[in-house]
Amino acid sequence: MDRIPTGRPSWDEAMRNAALAVLDSKRWVKGSQGKAFGLAFADHCGALSATPCQNGSSALWAALRIANIGPGDEVIVPSYTFISTATCILLVGATPVFVDVEPDYFCLDVGAVQKAITPSTKGVIGVHLFGQPYDPELVTLCTSHGLTLIEDAAQAHGASQQFQNGSKRVAGSMGDIGCFSFFPSKNMAVGGEGGMLTTTRQAYTAKISGITNHGRSPDLEAMELGSNLRMSEVSAAIGLEQLKNLDSWVERRHKTATLYTEAIEDNPLLQPPRVRPGAEHAWHQYCVHTNHPEALVEHFDHLGIDARRYYTTPIHHQAVFATHPQHSAELENTNKLGATLVAIPVMHELTEVEIQRILEALTTFKIA
Ligand SMILES: Cc1ncc(COP(=O)(O)O)c(C=O)c1O
Repeated sequence: MDRIPTGRPSWDEAMRNAALAVLDSKRWVKGSQGKAFGLAFADHCGALSATPCQNGSSALWAALRIANIGPGDEVIVPSYTFISTATCILLVGATPVFVDVEPDYFCLDVGAVQKAITPSTKGVIGVHLFGQPYDPELVTLCTSHGLTLIEDAAQAHGASQQFQNGSKRVAGSMGDIGCFSFFPSKNMAVGGEGGMLTTTRQAYTAKISGITNHGRSPDLEAMELGSNLRMSEVSAAIGLEQLKNLDSWVERRHKTATLYTEAIEDNPLLQPPRVRPGAEHAWHQYCVHTNHPEALVEHFDHLGIDARRYYTTPIHHQAVFATHPQHSAELENTNKLGATLVAIPVMHELTEVEIQRILEALTTFKIA
């Protein structure tokens, strides 16, 4: 029986043909594919513009630069997330201020964010963790305090959230600048490393395309500090093809997640993840709460299924933050999630047989 991995990117004839056509054209950089991918992505998420870039980490760095955040500025950030959500702040010389996350939805706790705001706070990086959109109140809070809200949507392609006024906003249009990753395990990919920068602010659109291209104006004068963050044309062509499938892939993830939740609803050993009211979760990961995480990972392993724990060492406890004032601080929910969550495969490429094997693994889990 084949092992079931935690991620499996999609690859089909249309993607292969799109990649080969670009290679054959020898227009490998700065061509029409990148522009078309940006336009289609902006359209999909309802952003004013979208600019393909090298990866999610460089998108985060660029977003901070565009918001003019640097030395002396504080940026509020969760500690229960991928490392580059916070290290990008160090890279621009600003100071991350770590706050706790919600116990049920895993995103920034808006009350904790409010308490952490000081006169030096310039921005907030909110993460749609595992595909769950952050609390829409975060947008209201940032707007009322004049803070730039950077949306780390690296795990949330296709997620959306109903706002208080009834409007639906898709990840990538729920903040001032959105940052995506196309790492192969994500909900959509580009055949290598890749990222996307989106914005809902007119003032940022030109700046974003500038910063990915050495901060140069159209007449090639470097107006501000940027770098070469451009995406290759081959990747953009693959991304364009993948994007056409994104909604149906997210729908498939949603159906699989619903089956898992139904299977463990009444299981005292496993609690399903909750979905925020008004949210369409993109199910990048399906994370089960359990007091026996190692036993669950082992049980899945014996059945030939990869399952993994996430962010077991909070970011602020890691060596790179050894001199940070919060290095030894304890964040209750951050600690608890790191100690109890286990992600099981939910990718859209799972076969029906694989889904049944995972359901079986969930229902046969026991503690001796
Ligand atoms: C929440 C989050 N932010 C940022 C990133 C960074 O993206 P990349 O790996 O493309 O640099 C990732 C990727 O894993 C992520 O999950």
